[in-house]
Amino acid sequence: MYRVAVIGGDGIGPEVVAEGQKVLEAAADRFSFDIKWEEFDVGAERYLETGELLTEDDLADLSRFRAIYFGAVGDGRVPPGILEKGILLSLRFFFDQYVNLRPVRLLDGVQTPLAGKSSKDIDLVVVRENTEDFYVGVGGRFHGRGKATHEIERNLYDIRFGIDCESDADEVAYQIGIITREGAKRVISYACDLAEMRRKRLTSVDKANVLTDVYGLWREVFSEVTARHRDLATDFTFVDAVTMWFVKNPESFDVVVTPNMFGDIITDLGAMIQGGLGLAAGGNINPEGTSMFEPIHGSAPKYKGLNQANPMATIWAGSMLLDHIGEREAAKMVLTALGQSIRDGVTTKDMGGASRTSDVGDYIATLVRQL
Ligand code: IPM
Ligand code: MG
Repeated sequence: MYRVAVIGGDGIGPEVVAEGQKVLEAAADRFSFDIKWEEFDVGAERYLETGELLTEDDLADLSRFRAIYFGAVGDGRVPPGILEKGILLSLRFFFDQYVNLRPVRLLDGVQTPLAGKSSKDIDLVVVRENTEDFYVGVGGRFHGRGKATHEIERNLYDIRFGIDCESDADEVAYQIGIITREGAKRVISYACDLAEMRRKRLTSVDKANVLTDVYGLWREVFSEVTARHRDLATDFTFVDAVTMWFVKNPESFDVVVTPNMFGDIITDLGAMIQGGLGLAAGGNINPEGTSMFEPIHGSAPKYKGLNQANPMATIWAGSMLLDHIGEREAAKMVLTALGQSIRDGVTTKDMGGASRTSDVGDYIATLVRQL
């Protein structure tokens, strides 16, 4: 029996997660295990009512789970950043989910915008560092007249800033990116192990030619860690160049490891080449703690409650969840059924089909039971 926490969140989040749960239930029946779901009421609605994003109690309760199944956050009634930082990023940071695993795989029957590329050309995984870089939330803004000083103390860092301003016209904003040796090492090691199990190619994506301090350290650690994996073919790419190569030669990538910010950007590109955001899934992983699985897309408030949203990314994330908790066969079956549903033309409008959200969930769940 597995206990899984569920945060449907905002917009289309709850409805796509419900389809995911349906499919995972089918997998549990088929492979003889049980899932006990526990729903958490977290998101815009509660925030607007009570002002709470994540409470101490939420975090204490969630920490008793190995896996969280997450929908999406984001709501037009709340200024951008509040729910994203206060819920999604807080969970990633609180649970130290240092690996953000994002498969970029073109399934048979899915259209890619890349001319002449097929499923055999697009099958890579981005391992995005998930707890450091420009996401650490160290920053500020100064304006007005006088000397503004800012002191930041965090676990490892103790940074002091002084900026002279003459007037509001001198306004200054800054935000600091941080890479630690340990932070880089653990995620690069994870990527090496993953590459060992795949096609044994590992690419580091950074910008060490300009941001020489942060990504200089990243590169150094990459060289050190990969030196212990002699059978891996490794290389470095700059992030601007990788946006060209993902489009031109996606087949040359197997595992890609990258700091947080670049990982965010290149996985949206990855989502497009694998057929769109409706198919892109991700796992926020702490191998020793509480991990969280989610579609990469947002809450798409416009489509809330219309039964039109594509649940496939969430179902794929559910497959990753199963794999993570050790139900490998069930995980594979969910992905196989998802692929079959696409080949059978049972897809939502964004993929050219005419099925509704719940039809797709029902169909995949039935396939999981029958295939
Ligand atoms: C993602 C999203 C998030 C991120 C946002 C919603 C905070 O874009 O998961 O890629 O930047 O990581
Ligand atoms: Mg993103």
